[in-house]
Amino acid sequence: MGRPQVVLGVSGGIAAYKACELLRRLTESGHEVRVVPTESALHFVGEATWSALSGNPVPTRVWDDVHQVPHVRIGQHADLVVVAPATADLLARAAHGLADDLLTNTLLTARCPVVFAPAMHTEMWEHPATQDNVATLRRRGAVVIEPAVGRLTGADTGKGRLPEPAEIYEVCRRVLARGGALPRDLAGRHVVISAGGTREPLDPVRYLGNRSSGKQGYALARTAVARGARVTLVAANTGLPDPAGADVLTAGTADQLREAVLKAAADADVVVMAAAVADFRPAAYATGKIKKRDGEEPAPIPLVRNPDILAELSANRPRAGQLVVGFAAETDDVLANGRAKLARKGCDLLVVNEVGERKVFGAEENEAVVLGADGSETPVPHGPKEALADRVWDLVTARLG
Ligand code: PMT
Repeated sequence: MGRPQVVLGVSGGIAAYKACELLRRLTESGHEVRVVPTESALHFVGEATWSALSGNPVPTRVWDDVHQVPHVRIGQHADLVVVAPATADLLARAAHGLADDLLTNTLLTARCPVVFAPAMHTEMWEHPATQDNVATLRRRGAVVIEPAVGRLTGADTGKGRLPEPAEIYEVCRRVLARGGALPRDLAGRHVVISAGGTREPLDPVRYLGNRSSGKQGYALARTAVARGARVTLVAANTGLPDPAGADVLTAGTADQLREAVLKAAADADVVVMAAAVADFRPAAYATGKIKKRDGEEPAPIPLVRNPDILAELSANRPRAGQLVVGFAAETDDVLANGRAKLARKGCDLLVVNEVGERKVFGAEENEAVVLGADGSETPVPHGPKEALADRVWDLVTARLG
């Protein structure tokens, strides 16, 4: 089998320069990439850059190399078309089926999955015209990634920023792996996901923490965005790039995580607690660094219990029908402990994974058994954390009705 053929469409926004990084990721991971910039895009990044980075000629007009019929061929041969950045104008032209340049011709002739990564000012993104165009494209099966929130072209900030190239690449990889558009069965749903590990400070220098990297929670966020959900990700000490399209809040300690999750859960359809939350915290915080004293044994560190956020969420649901999903990180008697934990915590689903010092924590892969309060047990074989995340969403959507 040849290398997957990707068309990278670039429309005329300042974020065009970030598409160079996306192009690099695509070529370095073995994809054959044809770049199709619009005329406006070439004002930001020139043809020579696209050609050098892709290793291919860069057609820019329907009138170039007419004998090769590029306006039809490029789209027909593609396994994936990704447009990054997709301006408001490009989304409008694509939604209305215009074919007034090579990129829009390509979009009309492509029969493969199409991903748009919009970037524009907040007002343009929020305008009903743009929102209608996005809805139209999604209805037809295209994946339109939610723009990120952050610094825009000028000094202003807001929603409309192009998601990080690494995140757009992840979406492309997922769409290619699934061989088509992703299901949008979480459209219209608000999901709250916690990720990472809390740190409970002992003094200004030290804390009680755990080995969670946040990767499993981020995989849940990324897959939920791809399936159409509005995602609030509460991240504890992760240092990972924000998943494209998710609203990311940060928390350091279990108390801070609790506050952020409970607030976001008020209007959520689903809450997933993938974070590793410390069960205990030091009873007192020393404002200065605790000193060792010659000849003295170190004093024991008294601990107090942290609130159990998952149990609290399960017992006091702010919305009827809200689904609560927990994770259980177990080292021994994994399933028996998992079953007991499900009963104790009162959540609807519990994803039971066996962890160890170098197992699951920080890894790219995971495996689990998902226990249901209805008695169901769904094994999920070893594979990427995104595969487990997708399976969790399958089980969630089946229960949302
Ligand atoms: O982040 P990675 O490196 O990708 O690793 C993923 C993971 C191992 C962190 C993840 O898969 C996982 O298992 N997350 C849950 C870790 C955990 O805290 O497990 P637990 O068995 O101690 O807690 C059970 C559940 O109660 C969890 O949903 C936890 O978020 C929640 N909890 C725990 C304690 C507490 N005080 N409040 C809680 O809400």
